[in-house]
Amino acid sequence: MEIGIERAHPARMYDYYLGGTTNFDADREAADAALAAFPTLRTTARESRAFLLRTVERLARSGIRQFVEIGSGIPVPGRNTHDVAQAVRDDARVVYVDNDPIVLTLAQALLTSGPHGSAAYLDADLRDPESIIEHPEFARTLDADEPVALLLVASLHFVADHRDPLAPLRRLTRRLPPGSRLVISHVTGDYDAQGWDRLVGAYADAGITVRPRGLAEVTALFDGWEIEAPGVVPVSRWHPTSGTPIDPALVSCYGAVARKN
Ligand SMILES: C[S@@+](CC[C@H](N)C(=O)[O-])C[C@H]1O[C@@H](n2cnc3c(N)ncnc32)[C@H](O)[C@@H]1O
Repeated sequence: MEIGIERAHPARMYDYYLGGTTNFDADREAADAALAAFPTLRTTARESRAFLLRTVERLARSGIRQFVEIGSGIPVPGRNTHDVAQAVRDDARVVYVDNDPIVLTLAQALLTSGPHGSAAYLDADLRDPESIIEHPEFARTLDADEPVALLLVASLHFVADHRDPLAPLRRLTRRLPPGSRLVISHVTGDYDAQGWDRLVGAYADAGITVRPRGLAEVTALFDGWEIEAPGVVPVSRWHPTSGTPIDPALVSCYGAVARKN
């Protein structure tokens, strides 16, 4: 397996922002340049991760027991989607997808389900949705007739405009039954255009495309879905659990949950 540690990778840079140890010199160098460009990027990462876990817990409580997380990242011991979902309902089933070989090596150790649910990991690319939905593990893990929460948290901004992020989304969601949910978080330059221009440049220097999107563009990703309250908002303002949510400008990341009717 080619791990490719000589080049920075978004999953390992994100791990570095979150204080993890699964990152290498190239990742840290690129991440430090990104932090110099947008100094509160660690806040962005923490708040988006917290949004992910809040949405999973709330959806599990509302009756959802199937989750597909695309761009799942380096596993965090005991704090992954299946950990949170199965703490609410032990029969929850999760399919994780990422395209980083390091995530693949860690997934087998850390993304293991409790005995009553299931967790599968697919090494696949978001931009090739067929490789996800046609994967045998996908059908083995999920009941096609039951609603699914599709989670694309901090992953769609790695899809450039010319690859059209809506195209894989449409393909991934087409056959999901009513009651399914779409969860997206996505970075934005709406609060600090210059800071995010610098950040896009820092990622480009490391060979990584990042495309922050404005409120209207992020809202358009939910085309055909009913966006639930409180709408597309800074992730820190999506059903916050603490009294004073962090200033959206420091977070610069939108999030929302929408329902298929
Ligand atoms: C910023 S991390 C987010 C991790 C996790 N979803 C979270 O919110 O904590 C973005 C993840 O998306 C993955 N990713 C980026 N582009 C991808 C692609 N085309 N296909 C699959 N995964 C991708 C990266 O490898 C990385 O793990």
